[in-house]
Amino acid sequence: MFHLRVLLPAAFLLISSASIAPAQSADYQFFKTHVQPIFLKHRPTHGRCVTCHGNGNGGSFVLQRLAPGSTDWTEAQTMLNYEAASRLVSPGKPTSSQLLMHPLAPDAGGDVFHSGGHQFASQDDPDWQELAAWVRQKPPVEYKNLKVLQSGDHLMDVMRSFNLSLREDCTYCHVASDFSSDARPNKSRARQMMQMTETLNASLGAGNITCYTCHRGDQKPRTTHPNYPDLKFPY
Ligand code: HEC
Ligand code: HEC
Ligand code: HEC
Repeated sequence: MFHLRVLLPAAFLLISSASIAPAQSADYQFFKTHVQPIFLKHRPTHGRCVTCHGNGNGGSFVLQRLAPGSTDWTEAQTMLNYEAASRLVSPGKPTSSQLLMHPLAPDAGGDVFHSGGHQFASQDDPDWQELAAWVRQKPPVEYKNLKVLQSGDHLMDVMRSFNLSLREDCTYCHVASDFSSDARPNKSRARQMMQMTETLNASLGAGNITCYTCHRGDQKPRTTHPNYPDLKFPY
């Protein structure tokens, strides 16, 4: 009984401070004032991020739908946008962050294909720089469900390499609202593939086999030669 009386108020304190903390953090305030407006901005020759990502299109980058007639998000919606955007960055490392690299032009180091186009022509774009400033000041995250990777240090680089190797977006393996969830079978399949790749490299030498070696931008690697589709290869 004595323990209960002492512990309960402490538990309530923890819960309430956890829900208030993000709203007061410098990280959240910077997002709200500098980053989120970029998602609403009209940029020449491109659609607005909100037009697609706020209407259920766009992989794991899920923005809230604007209420009819409104031109900005509410505080509650801003919090959800903040969480969605935060899941797609690697704190401290702008060029490892999907949110920054996917809509960036390939000439500037970005991804070749984004349905929403090459929104930022260069890393010098002032809006891209705002995104980078936000990523640089974000506190590190603790990943909750790593079973194969030894550490989360380069997690986003690994994940981006998966996207590029299979030419898919993050939701191919993940539930957009919770990346630690194992609900999608492709995530478990990918874990087995990571272990298989490690085993192959153990016999061939480190770095010889990557996901791309077999997948080359396909979900399922080819097992026949395109010019001889009927020829079954024994090896
Ligand atoms: C014309 C519609 C459209 C616009 C405008 C658009 N996007 Fe996208 N975006 C998509 C679609 C569709 C996908 C998923 C397929 C793909 O990768 O192209 C996507 C994917 C992404 C992804 C990768 C998500 C994942 O799961 O891998 C990011 C990050 C992203 N967009 C950011 C942006 C940002 C930032 C903007 C605005 C500066 C923007 N997009 C504007 C349609 C759009
Ligand atoms: C081909 C499947 C696949 C794709 C595509 C993929 N992931 Fe993953 N992701 C995984 C696997 C598997 C793990 C677990 C690794 C482990 O167990 O060590 C993981 C783990 C994670 C985690 C750690 C979650 C936690 O708290 O445990 C994050 C965050 C994450 N991925 C983000 C992303 C992002 C962002 C993208 C897109 C840029 C992405 N992933 C694309 C398979 C994938
Ligand atoms: C040695 C070749 C090889 C390597 C390396 C490889 N894969 Fe695969 N992968 C395959 C083959 C073959 C299949 C299809 C057979 C199957 O579905 O089991 C496959 C299937 C998959 C699937 C299921 C696709 C589907 O549509 O069912 C995922 C997800 C996947 N691989 C992810 C990865 C990831 C992530 C890596 C790198 C860590 C990787 N693979 C490395 C050969 C490879």
